[in-house]
Amino acid sequence: MHDLMQMRLANPSSQHADGRRARRVVEQARDAILRHCSARTVGMESDQLLFTSGGTEANNLAIFGLSQLQPGAIVVSAIEHPSVLESVTHAASQGRPVHFLPVDQNGVTCLESLQSLLERHHQGTPIALVSIMLANNETGVLQPVQEAARMCRRFGVLIHTDAVQVLGKIELDFASLDVDAMTVTAHKIHGPVGIGGLILRHGIQVAPRFFGGFQQLGLRPGTEMPVLAGGFEEAVVSATTDLESRAKTMQGMRDLLQNETRRLVDGCFVAGELSPRLPHTLSISFPGVERQALQLALDMAGIACSTGSACASGSSQSSHVLEAMHLPQEVIKGGIRFGVSVETTESEVVVTAERLAQLIPKLRQNRPSSMA
Ligand SMILES: Cc1ncc(COP(=O)(O)O)c(C=O)c1O
Repeated sequence: MHDLMQMRLANPSSQHADGRRARRVVEQARDAILRHCSARTVGMESDQLLFTSGGTEANNLAIFGLSQLQPGAIVVSAIEHPSVLESVTHAASQGRPVHFLPVDQNGVTCLESLQSLLERHHQGTPIALVSIMLANNETGVLQPVQEAARMCRRFGVLIHTDAVQVLGKIELDFASLDVDAMTVTAHKIHGPVGIGGLILRHGIQVAPRFFGGFQQLGLRPGTEMPVLAGGFEEAVVSATTDLESRAKTMQGMRDLLQNETRRLVDGCFVAGELSPRLPHTLSISFPGVERQALQLALDMAGIACSTGSACASGSSQSSHVLEAMHLPQEVIKGGIRFGVSVETTESEVVVTAERLAQLIPKLRQNRPSSMA
């Protein structure tokens, strides 16, 4: 990105040389990102990548832009990222029927519910769009999207997947998934914050959410950003090169964190442990502990973790993902999550487990009476 900034890149829609150079950077990035997601980039049936400001915007574009062109309900899993859940809540407030697919105790979306909704679609209660994330951002649990896509295809229903957590963590193959649209973002793979994209299967129509420009076929207008696009490309290329060995490294660190914590701390619970999971995510709970007190204490020790959902003015809602899994309240109240990367070191992991071992008994002892 630093090199690109030195290149005097102009507006990629400008006709002069600086503009044409910027256009080449944007289109090269678009092509590389599509290829590294195993989308089709050659021939008459090429898939399309619309750059957006990130995963949130791409999910909004998918939910509103794909459903707007057909009548019927929107179906999503109960464990989607808020950018999907709140989009469908807004669509519902405008009169669009919405259905939430339940998940089982292992965090996997229940496809029997999808099947019965699709059968009702066949009998005249239409579905406009199904959206199921490829892996959950809290538990890392992989979702049966390929199977859902096969079912949707049989009934002629559009399907979108949010693959934000999957890109650069395990193999991501847009063509084999056979979905109609897929969300990706750069900042989960050490790329720049502020760029993501929606990949659309060849021939899939999307209604724009923004207006006032011809860029990206008018589907997502606004001047494109060559430096961010180039940064996204670079991040995708590095994250998907030697993917298997990178994933192994991440999984090694995640498993070490899980096992060391278990060894040193009594009574912890790992959400989604029995399901196939992404290699970098650990959703771990300490019953009897208040998750925000734990997060604060870890933060003071220089260790970053997250609680269920974004925290506002010191109070956070409990995780809708753990709630949807019907886990005991004590588990939900004490649940935090860690993400490791290829850059995480063994000593960072060991120090984290040791710090947890010091903190948990104290926090259990001092827990507010409302939790007892
Ligand atoms: C599964 C999932 N979808 C969407 C998003 C939103 O992406 P962005 O931060 O690029 O808007 C995130 C970010 O945390 C995520 O984890």
